[in-house]
Amino acid sequence: MTIAAIIVAAGKGERAGTSLPKQFVTVGGKALLTHAVTALARHPRIERTIVVVAEGQAELAAHALGDILVDAIVIGGAERQQSVAAGMAAIGDARIVLIHDAARPFLPSSVVDRLIAALDTADGAIPALSVVDTLAKVGAKTGEDLGDVVDRNGLIRVQTPQAFRANAIRDAHNRWTGTAATDDAQMARAAGYMVAVVEGHAMLDKITQPADFAEAERKWNQRLISRTGLGYDVHRLATGEDLWLCGVKIDHEKGLSGHSDADVALHALTDALLGALGDGDIGAHFPPSDPQWRGAASHRFVEHAANLIKQAGGVIDHVDVTIICEAPKIGPHRDAMRIAIAGMLAVPITKVSVKATTTERLGFTGRGEGIAAQAAATIRLPEEE
Ligand code: CTP
Ligand code: MG
Repeated sequence: MTIAAIIVAAGKGERAGTSLPKQFVTVGGKALLTHAVTALARHPRIERTIVVVAEGQAELAAHALGDILVDAIVIGGAERQQSVAAGMAAIGDARIVLIHDAARPFLPSSVVDRLIAALDTADGAIPALSVVDTLAKVGAKTGEDLGDVVDRNGLIRVQTPQAFRANAIRDAHNRWTGTAATDDAQMARAAGYMVAVVEGHAMLDKITQPADFAEAERKWNQRLISRTGLGYDVHRLATGEDLWLCGVKIDHEKGLSGHSDADVALHALTDALLGALGDGDIGAHFPPSDPQWRGAASHRFVEHAANLIKQAGGVIDHVDVTIICEAPKIGPHRDAMRIAIAGMLAVPITKVSVKATTTERLGFTGRGEGIAAQAAATIRLPEEE
């Protein structure tokens, strides 16, 4: 049973007052539209994703979505209802459809689960939250004075996505004769369909007014949780090899030998980043048996790990690398190393630490047979709901 998702993003966003329509404004480094689409596209139950944008904004949308695959980008209408209808025309034979606002960027997967489950016994399902504030009308004396209090008992705040059996919502749209509807559930209900209410989520609040962006940014940051990864590596010192440490080539009588450029510090750093992500180690991503990594510049490994963190919606807060050797002296190269790593991770140099220590001439590092490196990485990743 195919489940499709429609993300409507064809509005003007007039109340938000941004120069670009709000769905293209970024929060946490990504457009609202991109957040909303990502949440639906990566949900395991959703197989088809349709994005609805205004005339002339398809390219803007495709650019904002980057490498996130959607099945179609279609053109919406002057009212939300028309935009939904345009999306409906593109869902094909899907039996269930979720209709979502791009202006609600953060969608916990648990809400999608609840909506789909509710369709076992209902034609439609909506997420909603209870109203906790006192509700009142604006008074008539000045237009800014307090009027009558409205009983909040039995009132709910309705959110999206709203899920429907496709036949039911198609029929409801066809039969709707009212004025512009701001959501689809009211149309389904007017056509006599049963719409279930499931628990919504505070993360789903819609971005409507200018101040909502700062609040969304705060929510986005709050859902990131801190994680730490450690890395350790050793390479043998040999004559006739180049010495690369932290992406900097150092003049020295010996260099490190290994399959790649043997930059022991960057290998430790790569493992620290992968460790924080919980995604294997450098050997799993770049098998030494694979000839394409022969002599490879190790900044590629670091960049790959940083990119995986970015793709997971994470941020790198800090990395700390320790190089363990008697020689060469690391101090004179420290800042060049920090700059090189900061470039690979696309973070400010203040987030990169490089340290060095000897082992008092003890052990393999003390005898100059090899160089060891340790690294720690602190990152923040989105919490799974
Ligand atoms: N929407 C749409 N087509 C329209 C109007 C709205 O696809 N003709 C979408 C918006 O892009 C948004 C969602 O419906 O994702 C909810 O609408 P709303 O928050 O009202 O957005 P806008 O209409 O863009 O904002 P405003 O009303 O402030 O102009
Ligand atoms: Mg609107």
